[in-house]
Amino acid sequence: MKQTVKTTLATLAAAVCWVLAHPALAQQEPVPMRGADVAATDQAPEVKKYLGGKPGGQDKVARTFDGQPPVIPHAVENFDEVTLDENQCLSCHGADTYQKKNAPKVGDSHFRDRDGKLLKNAAAARYNCSQCHVPQVDAPPLVANDFKGAVTVVKSGKKN
Ligand code: HEC
Ligand code: HEC
Repeated sequence: MKQTVKTTLATLAAAVCWVLAHPALAQQEPVPMRGADVAATDQAPEVKKYLGGKPGGQDKVARTFDGQPPVIPHAVENFDEVTLDENQCLSCHGADTYQKKNAPKVGDSHFRDRDGKLLKNAAAARYNCSQCHVPQVDAPPLVANDFKGAVTVVKSGKKN
């Protein structure tokens, strides 16, 4: 008998033995972890509205660890245009506009390049704000967890 045939027979015999030893398990249908059959098309998640209204009416959201980019407490739907010519976030949070708009100024760290050199304007690496600062939705965590955060660095409710 050829080696491959021998191996196949041995595998088959092992499978038969396993089914005989675990009849209940062998009958059980596998339960997919994502709740749908492998071949089923993914369902788009429910669209949720971001929390918060017009900038100026919200309290800041407490930070939960040192170095966390603060989350955006206000609505962003009409204020999120970031293009080469225009950055609506900077039109309120920029060093030359924040006082007039009564908005918190971009972080001091945003005025340093990657070598730590102080710049006149916010560094280009910080131009795409929503890469780090994210609006919030009221949604349950995707995975249950007991994260507590480092409460010593919490800053909240304070403007500017
Ligand atoms: C019309 C002015 C305006 C625009 C445009 C705007 N913001 Fe704000 N932002 C504010 C004000 C005012 C606050 C203070 C909270 C409040 O009152 O809503 C704030 C708060 C924040 C905070 C919280 C800061 C902290 O220390 O907790 C972040 C982060 C932020 N904005 C990011 C952004 C980003 C990113 C954009 C662009 C997508 C943006 N904002 C557009 C005015 C603005
Ligand atoms: C690479 C990530 C990153 C990008 C991009 C970025 N930020 Fe930040 N931002 C942070 C972090 C981290 C902090 C908190 C630490 C600090 O102040 O540097 C922060 C702090 C802030 C604060 C609070 C400052 C304070 O006084 O506490 C504001 C407002 C802010 N950023 C606005 C912006 C805006 C507007 C943009 C786009 C022009 C932007 N950030 C781009 C990471 C980022």
